Amino acid sequence: MAKNSVWDKPTIESRLSARGTKWHRDSPDVIPLWLADQDYPLCPELKDELRKAIEEEYTVYGTDTDAREAIAQKLKRVNNVEVPPDQVMMTQGVNPSMWLAARHACRTGDEVIVTDPMYFPFFTSVEVTQTQPVYWRLDLDGKYRFDVEKLKELVTPKTRLIYVCNPHNPAGRSMTREELKGVADVAVDNKIYLMVDELWEDIRYDGVKHTSLASLNPEVADLTVTSWGFSKAWSVPGLQAGYLACTNKVMFDNIQRIARGVLRGTNNLGKAIAPLICSGKIDYWVDDMNKYLAEVRDLVTRRLNEMGDFTIPHLEATYLMFPRFNYGLTSDELDKVLMKDAKVSFNKGSVFGPSGQGHMRILTATSKGIMNEALDRVESVIPKLEKMRG
Ligand SMILES: Cc1ncc(COP(=O)(O)O)c(C=O)c1O
Repeated sequence: MAKNSVWDKPTIESRLSARGTKWHRDSPDVIPLWLADQDYPLCPELKDELRKAIEEEYTVYGTDTDAREAIAQKLKRVNNVEVPPDQVMMTQGVNPSMWLAARHACRTGDEVIVTDPMYFPFFTSVEVTQTQPVYWRLDLDGKYRFDVEKLKELVTPKTRLIYVCNPHNPAGRSMTREELKGVADVAVDNKIYLMVDELWEDIRYDGVKHTSLASLNPEVADLTVTSWGFSKAWSVPGLQAGYLACTNKVMFDNIQRIARGVLRGTNNLGKAIAPLICSGKIDYWVDDMNKYLAEVRDLVTRRLNEMGDFTIPHLEATYLMFPRFNYGLTSDELDKVLMKDAKVSFNKGSVFGPSGQGHMRILTATSKGIMNEALDRVESVIPKLEKMRG
């Protein structure tokens, strides 16, 4: 059992004295709550596993056979997705899977359905594969429900791929079985491929369940490539360790063919921690963290609602909140005030798609001490935002 003090431990000073992009991109007087990178310590057993790999000088070429076997067992046990280990590919995090899926499914000019808002590398993937994005709008006032009737209207003969992010960054939703079933039916009825990003599967609150889209039925599994990773739950994004799997062997083989010569899997540290993480033996760590994260979410929700005019989507999953600042300002304008006057950095909502305009994305995976300081600073600029509202 991790103690609450583990999660309360990060201070501004301790974070500034450690390496990492998040705390060092801006000047040290800015509190960085932009990048989706935790401030918490590493799980001790995980750290031991990494230490062991270094002690053994496991820096030679290494196979990922053990890791893929452990992953296949985890996929069966946790995700209800049955694939042989040789239909699991280790990847440099999740992002390469977006590109691989588009390359597999699409030719230049084909249409890819992507939610708005959406984690922005999905848009990059559409751009670099020269496909056409078609936005499936998630409505904040409709609590970011996935409206399958709207999805049906977007399908054309050129639709080849749907990108699904579940749990969803930045909407903070964990899709219900009903929503997933709706997406699955649209894909199967129209023979559209699916790329599902389940990187955030472990970060959920209040008993919310995670369902893998590929577990719903063999027909939808046949059209789906799913990608997972260790970065968000285990605070190891710097290892760039993720994996994808397809139950459809033809699809998997083609994805492997596309990757050949461009992607070289992941590094040995990523391979070394996969069996331990996938065994479920250290799940206690993330369970504890989620309890603390739920408290931080409640703190942010309460304080923002008390201090100003915000519409705050309820965070069911992920540690990224996506409030709309109801001051009639663009995300750029908000960012300027927050950076310059409040000395806090969030992500501009507008980078997550047209509907993110006027929002800011706030990382919650920090201590309550740091979060309270950041919120005090936001509170100090509310009069200025009111004035700018005009
Ligand atoms: C939904 C989603 N997918 C993929 C990524 C990228 O993760 P990784 O660095 O492990 O590839 C992130 C990072 O925040 C994310 O939120």
